[in-house]
Amino acid sequence: MDPLPRIAGVIGWPIAHSRSPLLHRYWLQRHGIAGAYLPFAVAPGQVEAALRGLAALGMAGCNVTVPHKEAAAAVVDSCDAAARRLGAVNLVTVRPDGTLHGANTDGFGFLENLRERAPHWQAAAGAVVVLGAGGAARSVVGALLDAGVPEVRLLARTSARARRLAQELAPSPESGAITLPDWADPAAALAGATLLVNATSAGMDGRPPLALPLAALPAEAVVCDIVYTPLQTPLLRAAAARGLATVDGLGMLLHQARPSFAAWFGVMPEVTPELRALVTASL
Ligand code: ATR
Repeated sequence: MDPLPRIAGVIGWPIAHSRSPLLHRYWLQRHGIAGAYLPFAVAPGQVEAALRGLAALGMAGCNVTVPHKEAAAAVVDSCDAAARRLGAVNLVTVRPDGTLHGANTDGFGFLENLRERAPHWQAAAGAVVVLGAGGAARSVVGALLDAGVPEVRLLARTSARARRLAQELAPSPESGAITLPDWADPAAALAGATLLVNATSAGMDGRPPLALPLAALPAEAVVCDIVYTPLQTPLLRAAAARGLATVDGLGMLLHQARPSFAAWFGVMPEVTPELRALVTASL
C-alpha cells in the first residue's frame, strides 16, 4: 500500500487571494512528491482549534497568513527565534509527537530575494534605510540586523511607532544599531545609504506612492520594495530612472515559501524563472 500523502495548507481570513497554493503545488509537481497543499478559510477565534486539528488529521503543518499570524504565535508549543522576536508565526510544523512548532520565514524571504536580485550588495558596507514601522518593517529590520548591517535608519511617518519598534527589537551591542531619522528630512536619512527598502504599503495599486528625494542616495545604492502589486512600483521606476539597481517585492513572497516546503516535504525548492512567471501571471 502506498503511504498516505503528506498534506499541508494555508490558513487565513479571507484566503482566496493567497498565492501559496500556486507555489507549493508547482514545487510538489516539480519534485514529483505525492503531497497536497490546500487553502483553509479559518474564522477569527478558530485559530487554536484549526492548528490543533492539524495534528489530529495527521497533516504535515500549515502556513499562516493575515490576520492569524499573531494568534498562531500564541498557540504553538515552541517557536524559532524570528517568530519569537516578531510575535508572529507564518509556518507551523507538526512534530511526530503532535506538538506544534512555529517559525517565521518573512525575514529569510526578504534577504534571499535581496541576495538573488542584488548579489553585489554587501550587508556590512554601510547604513540602510527602512521605510515604515509596521509588521513588515519589523521582519525586514530584524533580518537586516541579523545579516550584519551596521545601522538601520528607520524612517517612519509615526515616530512613536518607530521608537516602539526600535525598543522591541532591541539590538544587542554586537549587532548594528537602529537609528530614528527625522521623517521631515528624508534626504538626510538617504545620504550615504547602501540600501533603501519600502516596507510600507505606499505605492501599492490604488495607494499614492511616497515622494522621496532619491537624488540623495549614492549611485551604488540598491532600492527594494516589498510591494509587488504592481511589480514595478512608482518608487522602483523612479530609482531605475536614476540608474539605481532595483529589487521588486515578488521574490520575497516566493523565497519566504521555500523553508515551509522544506519543513514539510523534505526538499529545499528553488525559485525558478518559470515559477516567477507563473506567479506574475496570477497577479
Ligand atoms: P504591515 O504589517 O503590512 O507592515 P502596518 O502594521 O499597517 O502593516 O504598517 C504599515 C506601515 O506603513 C506603518 O508604519 C505606516 O505608517 P503609520 O503607522 O503612520 O500609518 C506606514 N505607511 C503606510 N502608508 C504610508 C504612507 N503613505 N506614508 C508613510 N507611511 C505609510
